[in-house]
Amino acid sequence: MTAEKIREIVSKMTLEEKASMCSGADFWHTEAVERLGIPASMVSDGPHGLRKQDQEGDHLGVNESIKAVCFPAGCGTAASFNRELLHQMGETLGEECQAEGVSVILGPAVNIKRSPLCGRNFEYYSEDPFVASEAAGALIHGVQSKNVGTSIKHFLANNQETRRMSSDSKIGERALREIYLAAFEGAIKKEKPWTVMCSYNKINGKYAAENHKFLTEVLRDEWGFEGYVMSDWGAVNSRVKDLQAGLDLEMPSSGGSNDKLIVGAVQSGELPERVLDMAVARILNIVFRYEENRDKNAVFDRDKDHEMARRVAQETIVLLKNEGVLPLSEKDEIAFIGKYAKTPRYQGGGSSHINSHKITSALDEVKDMANVTYAQGFDDKEDKTDEAMLAEAVEAAKKAKVAVIFAGLPDAFESEGFDRSHMRMPDCQNELIARVAQVQPNTVVVLHNGSPVEMPWVNQVKGIVEAYLGGQAVGGAVCDILFGKVNPSAKLPETFPLKLEDNPSYLFYIGERDKVEYREGIFVGYRYYDKKKMDVLFPFGHGLSYTTFEYSNLRTDKDTMKDTDTMEVSVDIRNTGDIAGKEVVQLYVADKESTVIRPVKELKGFEKVELAPGETKTVTFRLDKRAFAYYSVKIQDWHVETGAFELMAGSSSRDIRLTKEVTVESTVKIPFVYTTDTTVGDVKKDPRAWEIAKTLIKKDLFGGEEEGSAASEAITDEMNEAMERYMPLRGPVSFGAGSVTMGDVQAVVDKLNALEEG
Ligand code: BGC
Repeated sequence: MTAEKIREIVSKMTLEEKASMCSGADFWHTEAVERLGIPASMVSDGPHGLRKQDQEGDHLGVNESIKAVCFPAGCGTAASFNRELLHQMGETLGEECQAEGVSVILGPAVNIKRSPLCGRNFEYYSEDPFVASEAAGALIHGVQSKNVGTSIKHFLANNQETRRMSSDSKIGERALREIYLAAFEGAIKKEKPWTVMCSYNKINGKYAAENHKFLTEVLRDEWGFEGYVMSDWGAVNSRVKDLQAGLDLEMPSSGGSNDKLIVGAVQSGELPERVLDMAVARILNIVFRYEENRDKNAVFDRDKDHEMARRVAQETIVLLKNEGVLPLSEKDEIAFIGKYAKTPRYQGGGSSHINSHKITSALDEVKDMANVTYAQGFDDKEDKTDEAMLAEAVEAAKKAKVAVIFAGLPDAFESEGFDRSHMRMPDCQNELIARVAQVQPNTVVVLHNGSPVEMPWVNQVKGIVEAYLGGQAVGGAVCDILFGKVNPSAKLPETFPLKLEDNPSYLFYIGERDKVEYREGIFVGYRYYDKKKMDVLFPFGHGLSYTTFEYSNLRTDKDTMKDTDTMEVSVDIRNTGDIAGKEVVQLYVADKESTVIRPVKELKGFEKVELAPGETKTVTFRLDKRAFAYYSVKIQDWHVETGAFELMAGSSSRDIRLTKEVTVESTVKIPFVYTTDTTVGDVKKDPRAWEIAKTLIKKDLFGGEEEGSAASEAITDEMNEAMERYMPLRGPVSFGAGSVTMGDVQAVVDKLNALEEG
């Protein structure tokens, strides 16, 4: 519908009708205004399947929703590093929505994995904003290609569940820009989601829902977002203020109470009516965009979509460790051990919970193979070793050639609504793995979990397969990987630290009653572990294959570029093994020298390539200013410092295969502001400035100790140089025996600033 037509409808609406449009009619629908032909529009969770509630609604997944298809959760889909696959998954979800009359699916969820403890990490993509944003973008593109909207969430800085409705995320501007906003930015700018969902929490003292800076200045003015902003369910605290900040739709319904506040505020003149009109226009625009593009032929083919879920799962399973034990031979005697072989944990709890139409377990998948035995090994209702089950599992493992243990986190260990209190798996499962590994050298562990776990048995087993929460078809996909029908190709979108205490947010995570300080700043995930040169259990970007890849010929189309230009980077990848496989080629960028504190390297490109044995393909990336920039708080913009950068092509963040140095020239000069506190060392960096400032040094500031005297022995040359380097320009006033006044210093400072301004 044209903007003009929408304006016309808005102009015909009464004040009361407009106010009612800004809050849900019920749990899942926007308000209808029949006399003007405005239909109610349904939204549903999300993000990795359709949670459409036909009957009574709730935001915690309590009441039954329609039978649907559960795809792998975000933790896994990000691990695919496959934009095309995520796009296809999005298309499937879009089609399901069309068939079910859902106008907007509530996802993707892109919040940064600040700590392995966040209860909703399973829904989120990555510790790296580029990965999160690219994954989200691909899914959005797919869903919206079917004329169904998405709601990228939860905007902003909702990185824990503890006190999520009232906590205050205290974050510095650089970290906000480079990490937390960046996870949304690329996807919003490129893929234009129809809606954005604001989070519950405060950011630097202000609720997301009432945050003009983020909902209007950043989202709309800077990023060009044109859809509507809806609240997370119950995130509205102050309806009128929120509307003014840029929050269009309150969800769910306030039962009319907030509508009255809006009407009153317009009548009293507190709220300009055009603010309300704008919000209503944005909502109507999306309501009609969906209505006018209904696909009457869309079908929700659950069996077909189950197969799609399996295809996605195949690429979300990360092979973490393999000492020659995988792939398994179908002829071998194999013991499947662990409850999750029979009833996989394949999704998380809460609002994303799908009522799966069918579930395939690994055991279902091997039901025709007589050589596979099964022992439950543990129960996940409580963390207690069952000696009989353990003994049965050990016996089964002993008799087999290989033992595959299906373990992971029980539902009670991770979910929406609360955070984990530690990073361990249940003790009973750890014990089971250790005991099986004692009797069976060929032990493989398959993990079903949404977030990293500690692995005390890592050196006792030969294979580890991270299946994440792989959706309803996970059992089939795991078997495809175990038996080599599919070559694993996923990579970790997050670091697995050795222990929780290694995580950069550890000291401050979940915060105090009224605030959560993000003191690690930009050093989230590998940005921290790399800087600290720390050993980790498995690094960001890690994931093995049954074949091998060789990297060669890292090259660029130019060695020097201006920051207004772009640079093409290419690298050749060859499959040097005997079977076909896919490799995720990662491109990191490192600033070799910087006046600001920066990570050792940051991911700025990735591509997944499929290669037949012996085949070589060239992978090409295009880097622009953002790939080299940091966010300058001073100029409130992205900035590149002129100088050398290293491009690093690798198979993981800790497996860099090739590097190349390039130069980037900045076209923006950040003027240096001199003050009387500026140090001599900093002034000397510009010889022209030093020419002016050196006039302040009228005599030896440190008294010129005689060589050989006791005083000269106390002062090394290094110390002397440092004393001068760090001497503020006002130093000569104190040390110059009256030769320089503060007025002289100020006069020099003024000249220096005049020089700087040119
Ligand atoms: C969750 C959202 C979800 C909404 C509706 C909230 O509790 O945070 O992610 O979309 O409920 O179920």
